[in-house]
Amino acid sequence: MGKLDGKAALVTGAGRGIGRAIALKLSAEGARVVVNDLDEEPARETVAEIAARGGEAVACVGSVTAAGFAERFVKTALEAFGGIDIVVNNAGYTWDNVIQKMSDEQWQAMLDVHLTAPFRILRAASGFIREAARKEAQEGREVFRKVVNISSVAGLGGNPGQANYSAAKAGVTGLTRTLCKEWGRYKVNVNSVAFGLIRTRLTQPLSAGEAKIRVEGREIGVGVQPAVLQAMEQQMIPLGRAGTPEEAANAVYLFCSPESDYISGQTVVCGGGLTL
Ligand SMILES: NC(=O)c1ccc[n+]([C@@H]2O[C@H](COP(=O)([O-])OP(=O)(O)OC[C@H]3O[C@@H](n4cnc5c(N)ncnc54)[C@H](O)[C@@H]3O)[C@@H](O)[C@H]2O)c1
Repeated sequence: MGKLDGKAALVTGAGRGIGRAIALKLSAEGARVVVNDLDEEPARETVAEIAARGGEAVACVGSVTAAGFAERFVKTALEAFGGIDIVVNNAGYTWDNVIQKMSDEQWQAMLDVHLTAPFRILRAASGFIREAARKEAQEGREVFRKVVNISSVAGLGGNPGQANYSAAKAGVTGLTRTLCKEWGRYKVNVNSVAFGLIRTRLTQPLSAGEAKIRVEGREIGVGVQPAVLQAMEQQMIPLGRAGTPEEAANAVYLFCSPESDYISGQTVVCGGGLTL
């Protein structure tokens, strides 16, 4: 028996890194998962991994920023699993530069993926959620649904080179707090997890030159200088190391579990004690 038996969960950016670990964790606790990723192969790999472990998942491939994506994502969940219980807005990447070198395109891309996409997905899910909650209230039942929006310590404290990313991730906090107030009446817990340093391809050590990822036709530099990683782990993170995707997923799971039924509108930092 898992704590999420029978629940339907939607996770964006679940083909790699933290999102993949979230999908696997929610599935391990009994949830059926709609796995989104921009890239088809990693999305299908996560679905296959869930199936190999005895869980149930379907893929919904595509960019969360694409027109009509949110409606398609919600439709996939309703058709495959007949409902929506958990939404995790995780998809994203970084596209850094100091402000004098940051283009409008670079600024807008971060707002689109980190802030506008979650807004659209939650708006698309609102019809089902409101209707289901009204019915449950008429039956005298309280059924809690969960939204977890992924933020970053950069969104709470700022980070040089990340005006675009920090602004978008700070916006996630505002979206979270407002939806907590709008959706409390529908028994939806809306919370946010702000990660510190988690080991994924975004934070890979730059050993030889720059690491690149391909996102929506663009080649984007990611990664962190080894000296910076070392300084963070030794001097800034009390627990002394970066987190794993699995540890990050566990923090998200807390806000998906029944134990968080009376917690809403909060942002928890999952960063090994990293302060801002
Ligand atoms: N790694 C960290 O230290 C860290 C710290 C703070 C916040 N975060 C946040 O955690 C989330 C996950 O990042 P990660 O470190 O696991 O990165 P990752 O690159 O390992 O995984 C992110 C996944 O999201 C997908 N994705 C990117 N853009 C997308 C789009 N437009 N539509 C659909 N899918 C898309 C990618 O294809 C990738 O599979 C992001 O929102 C990121 O900003 C990460």
